[in-house]
Amino acid sequence: MNIAIIGSGYVGLVTGVCLSHIGHHVICVDNNPQKIKALKKGRMPIYEPGLEELMHECVIKRRLKFTGSIKEACQKSSVIFLALPTPPKPNGDADLTYIENASREIALNMDSYKLIVEKSTVPAETGKKIRRTVQLNLPKRFKDGNKILLDFDVASNPEFLKEGSAVQDFMNPDRVVLGVESKKAEKILREIYKPLKTKILVTNIASSEMIKHASNSFLATKISFVNAVAQICDRVGADVLKVAEGMGLDKRIGRQFLDAGIGYGGSCFPKDVDSFVRLGEKNGYDFGLLKEVRRINETQHQSFIHLIEEKVWNLKEKTIGIWGLAFKPNTDDMRSAASLKIIAQLQHEGAKVKAYDPKAMRNAASILKGVVLCKDPYSTIEDADALLLLTEWPEFKEVNFIQVRDSMRQAVIFDGRNMLDADKLEDMGFEYFGIGRGRL
Ligand code: UDX
Repeated sequence: MNIAIIGSGYVGLVTGVCLSHIGHHVICVDNNPQKIKALKKGRMPIYEPGLEELMHECVIKRRLKFTGSIKEACQKSSVIFLALPTPPKPNGDADLTYIENASREIALNMDSYKLIVEKSTVPAETGKKIRRTVQLNLPKRFKDGNKILLDFDVASNPEFLKEGSAVQDFMNPDRVVLGVESKKAEKILREIYKPLKTKILVTNIASSEMIKHASNSFLATKISFVNAVAQICDRVGADVLKVAEGMGLDKRIGRQFLDAGIGYGGSCFPKDVDSFVRLGEKNGYDFGLLKEVRRINETQHQSFIHLIEEKVWNLKEKTIGIWGLAFKPNTDDMRSAASLKIIAQLQHEGAKVKAYDPKAMRNAASILKGVVLCKDPYSTIEDADALLLLTEWPEFKEVNFIQVRDSMRQAVIFDGRNMLDADKLEDMGFEYFGIGRGRL
């Protein structure tokens, strides 16, 4: 198949490279000339394990190209995926300007049948709006005095990949959801995903859009639920790790997404929960449950700060070393990362902050002000009054904690991800505090 991907951001690049890898001819489009220039030179602008190597392979096989022109992409493809940003507006609605503009441009450049597929997370009913925009902007063509009607379809095919394991998730999905309104669109999309040999669920467009809203919001609900449970664990002397294990053994519940911590971040969950709440409001439904999910997430880091204040005492002039800045491991992404809120609060209270992240240092340098960025975990905690672990990078388990203990001013660890071995650290002489471990 000849496929265009409009938007070479996170979702677009992973989708484009992976579709090319499974045998399709793909052209990725972006309106940022620097990005296209870098991609043409073989440089991947995001960090995602395995993606750059796969991109090189596909380019060598001549199945993957990059361009700044939607016109060129339209001419070369019959299927066009929209993987554009849908940032939140101040009222929580998703801003769909990029989607509308791209739909118009596709229409203006259409010369034969096209299947236009929503890939980025969009509010339910966006499919209808894309259809209308394309219809309104189709060029009028005539043959022998008769108007030629250009045929097209709109479909929804939400993306469920997680940052850090995106290639793996794309190649081995739990399911592929196809929201379609014609047999032709279904047939084309089935053909595209045939090499993946996975469960395919076909629905109408609205249901497909709702599956994405509901799935992400449900996962966010699981996280806020376990974070609320962790709050009570601390108060009654229970260990949330054991509680999650015990709950997770029930197949109906499952262990995944029951890791208590400093709250969810990233480019999806906070935005998607907001947009689902707004969708309810616009349609006369108050989604109170999700509002509470959001509230729990927004306050989770505050109780972490209170704990630090209680145990480290006055934060003014204290040195706090931070391990992990990305919103989760295996990514350099710091969008809506819990680390940002925690660092801002520490600085507000007058603490000196030093930080290290295995991959996010470049992003950190452009986002964080007044933070000493260190080259490794050890220099980060020299003379520190406390160590905060904010992202569960596996390499933090491999650190020599004797060396850490001896270079800190006070051997106190706050593990915001419950990643480290509390008993072992306490035996070494650390004071250890996790989330919901019942050890306060
Ligand atoms: C999420 C969805 O998982 C994915 O299906 C969708 O396509 C995009 O949004 P992503 O944001 O990449 O993916 O990361 P994910 O692994 O889901 O983690 C999101 C946040 O939740 C991270 O901040 C993570 O630390 C946090 N989290 C996750 C927890 O706090 N506890 C958990 O048990 C799981």
